[in-house]
Amino acid sequence: MKSSTSFLATIVLAVGVAGAQTAPIAIRVDVDIASPGPVIDRHVYGQFSEHLGTGIYGGIWVGPHSSIPNINGYRRDVVEALRRIHVPVLRWPGGCFADLYDWRDGIGPPASRPVRINVHWGGVTENNAFGTHEFLNFAELIGTDAYVSGNVGSMNPYDMAQWLEYMTSDSASSLANERRRNGRDKPWQIAYFGIGNETWGCGGNMRAEYAADVNRRYSTFVNAPADMHMIKVASGPTGSRPDVYDFATAMMRDGGRLQAMSLHYYTAPMLTGSDGTRVRAPATGFDAEQWAMTLSLALHMDELVTRTSAVMDQFDPDRKVILAVDEWGSWYAQEPGTHPGFLYQQNTLRDAEVAALTLDIFHRHSDRVKLANIAQTINVLQAMILTDQQRMVLTPTYHVFGMYVPFQGATPYPARVTGPDYVLKGYTLPSVDVSAARGTDGKLWLALVNLNPDTPAHVTTNLDGTAHGLVLTGPAMDSHNTFDAPDAVHPVAFAGTNQGGRVVIDLPARAVAVVAVD
Ligand code: AHR
Repeated sequence: MKSSTSFLATIVLAVGVAGAQTAPIAIRVDVDIASPGPVIDRHVYGQFSEHLGTGIYGGIWVGPHSSIPNINGYRRDVVEALRRIHVPVLRWPGGCFADLYDWRDGIGPPASRPVRINVHWGGVTENNAFGTHEFLNFAELIGTDAYVSGNVGSMNPYDMAQWLEYMTSDSASSLANERRRNGRDKPWQIAYFGIGNETWGCGGNMRAEYAADVNRRYSTFVNAPADMHMIKVASGPTGSRPDVYDFATAMMRDGGRLQAMSLHYYTAPMLTGSDGTRVRAPATGFDAEQWAMTLSLALHMDELVTRTSAVMDQFDPDRKVILAVDEWGSWYAQEPGTHPGFLYQQNTLRDAEVAALTLDIFHRHSDRVKLANIAQTINVLQAMILTDQQRMVLTPTYHVFGMYVPFQGATPYPARVTGPDYVLKGYTLPSVDVSAARGTDGKLWLALVNLNPDTPAHVTTNLDGTAHGLVLTGPAMDSHNTFDAPDAVHPVAFAGTNQGGRVVIDLPARAVAVVAVD
């Protein structure tokens, strides 16, 4: 795989950044390199791919006989793009889809696999061409750890245990031999296994106490060989319901010996329609108020993580149990004219900021958040990649994940930001958000987000040296890439200056920058 620096070098392209802007606001950033925090687990840069819309079929899998260039059925362009951003872990097969999924549907000769109806997502038929082998081989192909979500909603523990044995046993058991007959000799490594998904909702509509009992029961039987060190993820709360902390409490108290608990939270701005109904806000064509509302909702992740972690502290004061934010991202009205239930949305500079702000929050909670999965990788919700038959575009969110590669496994430092807030129509946001960390390459990395869509920021730091890296911005709040203009938004070379012995960074409005301080 490419190093982070070579990745950065390959995406430095020459386009102009934002045009004329108003006078900059003054921001002060103080990085405390004497107070390193716990390492940022690279698995917080994880992705999620569900059998939903064209997330799998068309997005990842086109089949080996497709005219779309592919590697054993996987889109070559997608494989190469995902390798470049060093995806550390991929979650599959759902989501809601997981709790109606029978793993036996997705093994054996493809022509013999049953056709089911994907009741959660558009009611379309699912031919199971992409199953266990196809997912786990894909994970190996892109160099990512596998996170498999189990079905506790409609399947019994015996079947789930059998799936684990099928995937992970190196014995001469009938299941291991069946796997061999299906083309895979050695077991796969499974890094994480989800004990259900959203048990409070599409995973079974369970009460918290019942969900905790279900976790105890299923996790008793779900085991991989000990040397695989597979982590079981209990299905935890959602930040979109008022019982978020009660649910977390019940799961931590009654769920058995947990290794990890999930938290889901979507940045989902809503508008009031002319008839008074609440509708999802659009992904493009929004105004500054919707920009501020969306970023404000994204920043709510910090409170959710802080308070959920505090609940976990009551039962796990040594912070051994991982908080796994295994679904997060923006959720807008789906694009007009697209298939109902496919959750296909455009992805703009605003989403780049949602991603950067959320990753910065995970950096600040590196003691507890050690796994996270943005929803979803391709063609669904806040996607990295959009595809249309032969064509592919990389979204602004993809570019943030690429720019942030140096933060994978880095050691974070506290960074205090001082300066005026960005205030608009009842929303008060920090003008600039900063994350600082020492990368595994030994360099000091700074990520800076200018939340103000109109005004640049003049950022003075306490750091000595020079700063070089990349910036992502565009002429409008909803700048985005399309199949006809796939490179409208992409990172360009960017540098700070040294003024009076201190690094100074002039950050454009509505921008994300990542720089190394030398
Ligand atoms: O990511 C889309 C859906 O959102 C998932 O299937 C579900 O877990 C969540 O509600």
